Amino acid sequence: MGHPRVDAIVQQAREAVAAAQSSAELERVRVGVLGRQGELTQLLRSLGTLPPEERPLVGAAANEAKRELEALLDARLGATLETERQHERARQRLDLTLPGRRPPRGSLHPLTRVHDEIVAIFAGLGFSVAEGPEIETDYYNFEALNIPRDHPARDMQDTLYLTESTLLRTHTSPVQIRAMLAQKPPVRIIVPGKVYRRDVADATHSPMFHQVEGLAVDRGITMADLKGTLALFAREMFGPRSQIRFRPSFFPFTEPSAEADVLCFVCHGDGCRLCKQGGWLEILGSGMVHPQVLRNVGYDPEEVTGWAFGMGIERIAMLKYGIDDLRLFFENDLRFLGQFA
Ligand code: PHE
Repeated sequence: MGHPRVDAIVQQAREAVAAAQSSAELERVRVGVLGRQGELTQLLRSLGTLPPEERPLVGAAANEAKRELEALLDARLGATLETERQHERARQRLDLTLPGRRPPRGSLHPLTRVHDEIVAIFAGLGFSVAEGPEIETDYYNFEALNIPRDHPARDMQDTLYLTESTLLRTHTSPVQIRAMLAQKPPVRIIVPGKVYRRDVADATHSPMFHQVEGLAVDRGITMADLKGTLALFAREMFGPRSQIRFRPSFFPFTEPSAEADVLCFVCHGDGCRLCKQGGWLEILGSGMVHPQVLRNVGYDPEEVTGWAFGMGIERIAMLKYGIDDLRLFFENDLRFLGQFA
């Protein structure tokens, strides 16, 4: 049973189904024969144009063909979809035998390590950490620290001014003033932070670097307390055989003032490359808080005295780790930073 026109369509469709490689191709075959514009659909739709005696024959054959092709396509599509699903599952299967990708392990920046060490040493002595703004007023950075406008001591620190009266702090000492204004004695603080100077970057200069300020104010504080504290700091930071020596110096906000040197921890004073044969390494500036500074914050210098110091974190780190170029700290070269893991 059949009809030549219908048989031709069926024959073609069977071949197309047999040749189809994927569910998408099968779907295309289905649309081409059975879809709204499909060959068989169009034939059924055009029955009215046939001679009346042919209509039932062609109609019956086309409906029969439609059922046959639907069944055929359903069966093939089902089988094809199942194979495709299997392939997809195989493609997505994890290979648990592959070695994992390890995330690279980071390490603390050497400046962070030295910073943390300094803070830990002074925290152990009962000092608390204080902080202040990097954008400072002329008053806190200079005036209150006994450095008047036009005083030659301002030349010691080349300053980045923002306006007439505001600047990037050139040292952490302004936080001494802020801390003393905020509380009554006794004061025991250390102040880590960034400071800025109008310097061109080279092996020993950077327009931004880090300092730690120390300040102790109380009744009966003397220079001996300063030296004892620094000696302990040096032993913790540079090793148990470390010693401290003072050299006279000048800062407008301390009187007397002293540079502190630590005995060279490489040669222990004999002279070597690190200490440039001198036997000692300069590590910080310090002194007894100037009475005028105490008065500026409303303290009575007849009642309380204090000492202060300021050290560069970069300098300590360079000495401790034997680093000879300041710029290494700021270039973020992992070959450098990775050595502090
Ligand atoms: N502020 C000084 C500087 O940056 C260091 C210092 C701090 C000296 C405290 C004495 C006392 O050079």
